[in-house]
Amino acid sequence: MNSDWREYEPLALYTTLKVGGVARYLTTVTTVSAVAQMVTRAQALALPFVTIGGGSNLLISDNGYPGLVIVMAIAGMSEVVRGDQVLVTAGAGMVFDELVATTVRRGYWGLENLSHIPGTVGATPIQNVGAYGVEVADLIESVTVYDTETGVEGVLQTDQCAFGYRTSRFKTVTPQRLIITSVTFRLTKNDRPQVGYADLAQRFAGIVPESPTVVRDAVIAIRSAKFPDWHTVGTAGSFFKNPIVSREVAHELQRRYPELPCYPHGTSQIKCSLGYILDKICGLRGFGDGRVRLYEAQALVLVAERGATATNIADFAVFVAQQVYEKTGIVIEREVQTL
Ligand code: EPU
Repeated sequence: MNSDWREYEPLALYTTLKVGGVARYLTTVTTVSAVAQMVTRAQALALPFVTIGGGSNLLISDNGYPGLVIVMAIAGMSEVVRGDQVLVTAGAGMVFDELVATTVRRGYWGLENLSHIPGTVGATPIQNVGAYGVEVADLIESVTVYDTETGVEGVLQTDQCAFGYRTSRFKTVTPQRLIITSVTFRLTKNDRPQVGYADLAQRFAGIVPESPTVVRDAVIAIRSAKFPDWHTVGTAGSFFKNPIVSREVAHELQRRYPELPCYPHGTSQIKCSLGYILDKICGLRGFGDGRVRLYEAQALVLVAERGATATNIADFAVFVAQQVYEKTGIVIEREVQTL
């Protein structure tokens, strides 16, 4: 059997924030044909449907979901060597960090900076996951999708994915229409350390890491100091996106707050560090109401205590956004997706 069919399944069990109501129906799919079958079944019953992976970027409403939740669990991994390049294809349901660990162990460069990011392979293109100077868009060769409108499986090349900062066509153009079934990453056997990001540059300080394992170990050490363990508390990593503003707005902010970290974004915009704004400008690092708080070691990370509800989190997020707006005039956006 390639799928199951459950009723009134608590969705809190399927996300790292660990909140949310029940799914009217829930199924776990391990093959592309099971995806097709489940989508057809939902369509026949006129049920809305949604696909989830590891639930590490998801805030599910306390009211749950009235339709069918499809949990992506297509596993498997294969590779094709093309000169110095290695094309690695992984099933959308594979745990992303298992893919990272395996490729790093084989000596392939590319994914090491993305070590210890929770979630599944298929979720990474949706929000163009990134960390420590690398985004999956830099490494993705192609994405295989099941089109729920036509019932056909197809392949999208990177330039068809409309990748941007924490976004892609899977979020913007056709949300939920295309179900990602596998992703092919373009890795390399040649040395390609990317240690320019401040935290890594500090750690390596002029030393060129000799293997992707060395970089992975450094990233894991940095992350463990900054992120709470999602196995034990409710969290979804960065809850908001770093805001992207015009040069004028950024210059004015930096005039008032000279140490605010800002980075060029494209040719005319500037990305400002929201972690810094929340921490140093709003004084909200570690601040909370007993149920929800901004993490002590990284203010951009929201932590939900056991017993917190989705409403508690949403209300707290509104409060945080208001504080940022009052102090800086910036309207911030959530990175976490709401269901
Ligand atoms: N900062 C503070 N106080 C804080 C947090 C940050 O002053 O409480 C300052 C830091 O000192 C640093 C700057 O803000 O100068 C940026 O902080 P950091 O390097 O930790 O990165 P970030 O911009 O807060 C982003 C991603 C993370 C990713 C890290 C590392 C987003 C929304 N978040 O965070 O991604 O791991 O960079 O590359 O872009 C995620 O998306 O869920 C995520 C965890």
